[in-house]
Amino acid sequence: MSHTVLISGGAGFIGQRLCRALLLQGSTVRIIDNFNAQIHATDSLASDLAPNVELIRGDVRDRDALKRALAGVNAVVHLAAETGTGQSMYEIERYFSVNVQGTATLLDLLQNDDCGQNLSSIVVASSRAVYGEGAYACIVHGKVFPQQRDRAQMAAGEFEPHCPECSAALTLLPTPEVAPFMPMSMYGLTKQVQEQAVLLFARTRNINGFGLRYQNVYGPGQSLKNPYTGILAVFSNLARQNQGIEIYEDGLESRDFVYIDDVVEATMRSINHAGKFVGAINIGSGQATSVTTVAEEIRAFFNSQSSIGVTGAFRVGDIRHNIADIALARQILDFSPSVAFKDGLANFLQWASEQPAEDRAAYTRSVNELTSKGLMGSSSKS
Ligand SMILES: NC(=O)c1ccc[n+]([C@@H]2O[C@H](COP(=O)([O-])OP(=O)(O)OC[C@H]3O[C@@H](n4cnc5c(N)ncnc54)[C@H](O)[C@@H]3O)[C@@H](O)[C@H]2O)c1
Repeated sequence: MSHTVLISGGAGFIGQRLCRALLLQGSTVRIIDNFNAQIHATDSLASDLAPNVELIRGDVRDRDALKRALAGVNAVVHLAAETGTGQSMYEIERYFSVNVQGTATLLDLLQNDDCGQNLSSIVVASSRAVYGEGAYACIVHGKVFPQQRDRAQMAAGEFEPHCPECSAALTLLPTPEVAPFMPMSMYGLTKQVQEQAVLLFARTRNINGFGLRYQNVYGPGQSLKNPYTGILAVFSNLARQNQGIEIYEDGLESRDFVYIDDVVEATMRSINHAGKFVGAINIGSGQATSVTTVAEEIRAFFNSQSSIGVTGAFRVGDIRHNIADIALARQILDFSPSVAFKDGLANFLQWASEQPAEDRAAYTRSVNELTSKGLMGSSSKS
C-alpha cells in the first residue's frame, strides 16, 4: 500500500528537501503551498521534484484547497507558516491568521471530514522560539528561565539576561523540552499554539504527533530573497557584494545552527517512527555559534571587502542565545546531528555563490519597518 504524505509549505526550504527524502523512500508526496512572494523568486518546484509530486497551489486557510490536499493521506507534515520573528511583532494579524488559523483549518478538516480517516501521524514544525531566552544557570538559584530582556538595560549596553530572582549574571545552558513556554515574539507565540493544537489533536485521535522544535536551520535551498529571516542568507548577500555587514547588540549573541540534512533526517525519523509517541522534541546541533563568528566566516569564504560593524542596535523580540538540549531526539528518534557548522556553512556558501545575489534594498526596507514601528533600539555601544 502506498504511503501518502502531505507537506504543507512543501515548496519552502525545509519542505523541498524533505520531499526528496520522502520520494527516495517510495512515499507518494503531495504539497500544498501558496508560493508566498516574500520567500519565492519563482512559483515552481525544483525541476527534479515537479514531475514526481502532486502540487496543489493554495493557501492552508482555503478549506476547499486543503481538503483536496488531504484526501487519503497517511501522514501530514505541517510546515506552512509566516516565519519572520521581527516582522511578526507588527504584522500580527497576518502571522496569527496563517499560523494559527491555518493550523485550525487543517485540524478541523482532519477531525470532521473523511480525508482524515487514514491518518496515522502528524508532524508540525515548531521552533526554538517557544522558549524565549531558554535555560540558564544562576550560581545561587540554579536553573532559571529569564524573562524578556529589559529595554532600558539593553539601551545601556547590557545585553546578557540576568537571574529573574536575584539579577545575578548567568551561564547559558542547553534548553530541554520541559522548559516553560516563554515566547518573546508573536511568531514564537503562534508556534506554541500550532504545536499545542497539533499535539492535543494527536492525543485525542490516538495517532503519533511530533512538535519538532527546530533551531536555526540553514543550508542550500534556503530563501536568499526573504529579508525578514535567516542571517546566513542576509550576511552572504552583503558579503558577496562587498557591502557592510551590521551586527546587532555586541555581536556575541549566539544561535544553535542546525544543517538542513540533519533537520530532514530527524523529520523523516518522526514520520516513520514505529512506536507510539506524542510530544515535542528539540532538533538542533547542540552547539552555540556567535553571530560575529558567522559574519567573519562568511566574509572569509567570499574573500570579501565587507566591513563588519557591531552596532549596539537591538531588535525587540530577539533572544540573546540559545542551545538545544538534544537528549530527547537521541532517545526517541535515535537522531544525532552529523554535519559540523564549518562544513554545513561551506556547503551553503558554495550553493549561495551560484545564485543571483539579492540587492540590499529589501533588507534595508525590513530594518526601516522595524524602526518605524518602534521595534528597534539603540544602545550606548552604538
Ligand atoms: N528555517 C528555520 O530556521 C526554522 C526554524 C524553526 C522553525 N521553522 C519552521 O519550519 C517551517 C518551514 O520553514 P522553512 O525554513 O522551510 O520556511 P520557508 O519560508 O522556506 O517555507 C515556508 C513555506 O510555506 C509556504 N506558505 C507560507 N504561507 C502559506 C500559506 N498561507 N498557505 C500555504 N503555504 C504557505 C511558503 O510559500 C513557503 O514555501 C515553518 O513552519 C517555520 O516556522 C523553521
